[in-house]
Amino acid sequence: MSDSFENAVNVLTQAKKAVALTGAGISVESGIPPFRGKGGLWEKIDPMKYAHIDAFLEDPKTVWDVLIKNMKTVLDKAHPNAAHTGLADLEQLGILQTVITQNVDGLHQRAGNRDVIEFHGSFARMHCQSCDWAIETAQVDLSEIPPRCGCGGFLRPDCIFFGELIPHEALFRSQQVSAACDVMLVIGTSATVQPAASMPFIARDNGAVVIEINPEPTSLTQRISHLPLMGAAGTILPRLVGTIRQRLATP
Ligand code: OAD
Repeated sequence: MSDSFENAVNVLTQAKKAVALTGAGISVESGIPPFRGKGGLWEKIDPMKYAHIDAFLEDPKTVWDVLIKNMKTVLDKAHPNAAHTGLADLEQLGILQTVITQNVDGLHQRAGNRDVIEFHGSFARMHCQSCDWAIETAQVDLSEIPPRCGCGGFLRPDCIFFGELIPHEALFRSQQVSAACDVMLVIGTSATVQPAASMPFIARDNGAVVIEINPEPTSLTQRISHLPLMGAAGTILPRLVGTIRQRLATP
């Protein structure tokens, strides 16, 4: 066992209000490809052409055909993996308070985490770009692409496109819980997209220990991660939880 792993177990065993910031990497083992790096979605399609709000406003059919329909196919098949379950276990143990996720797949909630801030929105819901009428994605009639609202406007997922603002409440609460946490777990994110990537800095500046779980080094690893744990989240998180459980059971 590495020193970082041992230290992470010690720190988490003492923690009472840890926060996790998660990214696409935590869902890779659920079959959802990441955005960057090998096999990443942005290697296949240009986000400025297909994931920018201006692209959607100009040509919603193409954005639906190239991006949204494929996302739906992938997300419909996905289930929580051992990393999602590990975070739910940490909440049950009274260690983890909140998950801030950049993912739109809803897998943290399905695994059992109760306080999940969906920083970039959710794919589970859609709304009309024109009148804001809302509907669950599972209820959307996809016989016509792009699907339309009764007002004639186009439906779109409740996810943030590039060029759009983070929902105020999600940003405000994320900043609050990051400033107040005792440990921040940064899992499966390249930490390249702002303002999500600033949360570990807020946590560290306010005295939290930053534990990073990722098979690759990121821009945070050298700069602010106190305890980098190199590896797949689906392997490391269950090992952490198992060791913490043993520790808590031993007086
Ligand atoms: P990225 O695709 O940028 O980064 C994924 C990270 O996961 C990388 O650092 C990988 O090394 C790591 N990774 C891969 N497999 C892993 C595994 N099994 N366990 C742990 N980590 C693993 O994804 P994000 O950082 O989430 O925004 O990207 C941030 C935002 O950029 C997304 O929310 C999305 C995208 O553009 C919007 O769409 C608005």
